[in-house]
Amino acid sequence: MSISEFYREKNVLITGATGFVGKLLIEKLLYSCERLARVYCLIREKNGRSAEERLNEIISCKVFDKLRKKEPSFRDRLVAVSANILDSSLDTLAANDEFTSKINVVFHLAGTVDLDLDLKTSLLTNVLGLRRVISFSRKLPNLEAFVHVSSVYANSDLSFIDERVYPSAVQPQKILNLLEWMEDDWMKMATKKLIGEKPNTFAYTKWLGETLIQEEAADLPVVIVRPSTIGAAWKEPFAGWVEKSSGPCDLFIAAGRGYLRSMKGEGQSVLDIIPVDIVVNLLISSAWQKTNTGDEKISIYHCTTGGLHPFRWSEMENFVTLYSKRIPFEGAFRRPNLALTSNSLVHDYWVFISHLIPAYMTDAGLALIGQKPRVVNVYKKIHKMLSSLEYLTEHEWKCTYDNVIALRNSTKDTDSQTFYFDPRGIHWPTYIENYLIGTKKYLLNEDLHGVPAAKQHLKLLRNIRWCTNVIIAVLFWRLLIAKSQPARNLWFFVLSLAARFVRFFRLSSSTMIKQ
Ligand SMILES: NC(=O)c1ccc[n+]([C@@H]2O[C@H](COP(=O)([O-])OP(=O)(O)OC[C@H]3O[C@@H](n4cnc5c(N)ncnc54)[C@H](OP(=O)(O)O)[C@@H]3O)[C@@H](O)[C@H]2O)c1
Repeated sequence: MSISEFYREKNVLITGATGFVGKLLIEKLLYSCERLARVYCLIREKNGRSAEERLNEIISCKVFDKLRKKEPSFRDRLVAVSANILDSSLDTLAANDEFTSKINVVFHLAGTVDLDLDLKTSLLTNVLGLRRVISFSRKLPNLEAFVHVSSVYANSDLSFIDERVYPSAVQPQKILNLLEWMEDDWMKMATKKLIGEKPNTFAYTKWLGETLIQEEAADLPVVIVRPSTIGAAWKEPFAGWVEKSSGPCDLFIAAGRGYLRSMKGEGQSVLDIIPVDIVVNLLISSAWQKTNTGDEKISIYHCTTGGLHPFRWSEMENFVTLYSKRIPFEGAFRRPNLALTSNSLVHDYWVFISHLIPAYMTDAGLALIGQKPRVVNVYKKIHKMLSSLEYLTEHEWKCTYDNVIALRNSTKDTDSQTFYFDPRGIHWPTYIENYLIGTKKYLLNEDLHGVPAAKQHLKLLRNIRWCTNVIIAVLFWRLLIAKSQPARNLWFFVLSLAARFVRFFRLSSSTMIKQ
């Protein structure tokens, strides 16, 4: 049975449907599985907008343009389900037999992505929320697959990650108990101790989530997909589609606008980005494989590029600098010129020279002309981002891909073209170029017609830099010869040498004319 055949007349439920991955999952399911019955989108009410209103907002997004063209009435196959995974609305839903009997596949995407979110919110969403969705899924009599999106960073304290759950020594329930009595301030103070070897709250709570699945859902048809950092689309719905300012996006914007100039990291380490369309295709295919094989164990898929087709930080450094000069972002602060170094002293030096001095000087200038200083604040955010990414820039993981390879081998040719998830075909320079264009278009809402003006702005910045460099050199030299006798002697020596050279040149040219 092909993948699209598997989804024929099926009903799927997606939590996190309003998110970056969720939107693309809805689009892909509807676009490539024409006979799929319905996609139920679990959406919470937010800022006074109902689930229905939020769903209508989502489908007006550009990402659905291709589908809109193919199937103008696609909205009929979408159902908004109003529920929050953290409150009783999910229980009410579970009590509705008519609804529960319909659902065949659950994609659980609702979760956090902020690496350093406070522990309480991360625990609530990634662990307690997951437990509630598991309990809800138990009430689904026709459930064929429960696909949970975890992260490869859940095990980032290991240098080698196998396709199995590495359970935490402390039961997740014991950690969840803390939420009942521990005050927020205490929780903040205890965070470092609690997360232990894990680099951040995201990794820690995703790890606890996997432990919870092993403890409480091993009898369900569970699939765990572990992506690395999810980036812009490789091919579909269009190359470079990105909608959310996540890890590499913020970095690309900061470097492309010339703010970020020094970064600490190992150039040869892997920057593990996985395009969002690959993640979505793997999610869809893994649910099919679960029923295909009838495997009763928890199936785990590593959805990363590092071990299959690595992209290195040094390449990112070069491509981002190159392409953001070719297709510049608007309003650049300086010309893009990112440099990566593994040496802390060198990095600190460049942070001082290339980040802090220009930031404080610009803010002083802004204050002098009566404007609000802002550049120092921009750098505070950039430095915060760098410190949360430091772990990723300095470490590397190896993981196994046996399940991904088995899945690849069992998909038919047509399926592997429609639901492609093999990252080995990515041409990284083109991908990064499209990523930057996508960031410009879809995230920053900048028009490509503005590129010539942005290039002109970069030229102006280059001229300003040259003038500044010349002025600094002249001032420095004047200061030096005013204070130091050897420098003065050297200066007069150079001047007399130059004068002699000019005299010699004049004499020899006049002799030649006479001859
Ligand atoms: N993006 C990455 O780089 C990355 C990497 C590894 C793993 N992941 C995992 O992949 C999944 C999807 O990521 P993403 O990038 O699509 O995240 P995202 O854009 O931040 O979306 C998160 C989704 O979760 C929903 N959600 C959060 N709390 C909820 C609650 N209490 N009730 C109902 N819905 C709730 C959000 O709904 P609202 O719109 O209502 O807030 C949103 O739809 C997450 O589990 C994430 O941890 C992401």
